[in-house]
Amino acid sequence: MSSVSENPLPAFEPDWLALREEADAEARATAALDPLRAHLAERGTGPGTHPLRVVDLGCGTGSQGRWLAPRLPGAQTWVLYDIDPGLLSTAGARMPTRSADGAPVRSRMCLRDLGSITGRDLLDVDLVTGSALLDVLTRDALESVADAVTGAGCAALFTLSVTGRVELFPSDPADPPLTTAFNAHQRRGGRLGPDAVGVAEEMFRERGHRTLTFTSPWRLGHDRAPLGLAWLRGWVGAAREQEPAAAPHGYLERRLGACGRGELGVIVHHTDLLVLPEGATEHP
Ligand SMILES: C[S@@+](CC[C@H](N)C(=O)[O-])C[C@H]1O[C@@H](n2cnc3c(N)ncnc32)[C@H](O)[C@@H]1O
Repeated sequence: MSSVSENPLPAFEPDWLALREEADAEARATAALDPLRAHLAERGTGPGTHPLRVVDLGCGTGSQGRWLAPRLPGAQTWVLYDIDPGLLSTAGARMPTRSADGAPVRSRMCLRDLGSITGRDLLDVDLVTGSALLDVLTRDALESVADAVTGAGCAALFTLSVTGRVELFPSDPADPPLTTAFNAHQRRGGRLGPDAVGVAEEMFRERGHRTLTFTSPWRLGHDRAPLGLAWLRGWVGAAREQEPAAAPHGYLERRLGACGRGELGVIVHHTDLLVLPEGATEHP
């Protein structure tokens, strides 16, 4: 099993997570919520029944909980998992306290490497979530998560996994080699990077769960210039670290200038993955 100590994680800076939170909230696929709500209602959670039990894996500063808890009805209890104690305590302090219909939402935190999670940790859990998570996991860590979710027989919603596809407007001949180098960087240390959703679908299906995917792109235009600038720096920086010749001289400066003037559009493609236990009714 690959552990996080063997494969040190890139830093997940709170500032970066804060900068992306609004774009993440706009991007997450609301179309996944109807089949999810229907499944949870069939399972007997919701208003007037037992509280919905949710686990957020790799919660960071908690943006998934801030987005999802107020979109689901009824009382809820959340357990927030992360390996970073600083991010975890921010997430705990900022969890919403009311659900979609005003019922109480309670939460607690769990400092943990997801590579060691098992079905016992998810006993009685109704829903596992994770956001911007699958692509930073190794195959072994994802396997632990898939075993745990399917062992517990619960649903899972993994939002905002990168697909490896980006579009820049206007385009530039250096965009494709940069994309290739960036995607190779994402796969460093055995992380799944852009392969994550495909691998996850295969793992969950092999274990008898059904999977549905939804597109959830970031659309970074002039109204998202600060995120666009930070994303460009990170994208080109990682690509150059992987392949120093990937970006021609002056590329980054030109792109940053265009982004700052509102003359660059970027679409960063993501996928949201909904996993339902076999036998759950499929709703449109
Ligand atoms: C890209 S951040 C996403 C954070 C948050 N879910 C969000 O959407 O803003 C990935 C998070 O996963 C956590 N993480 C990554 N690998 C992990 C592991 N093996 N065990 C526990 N947490 C992990 C990181 O510490 C980080 O907080």
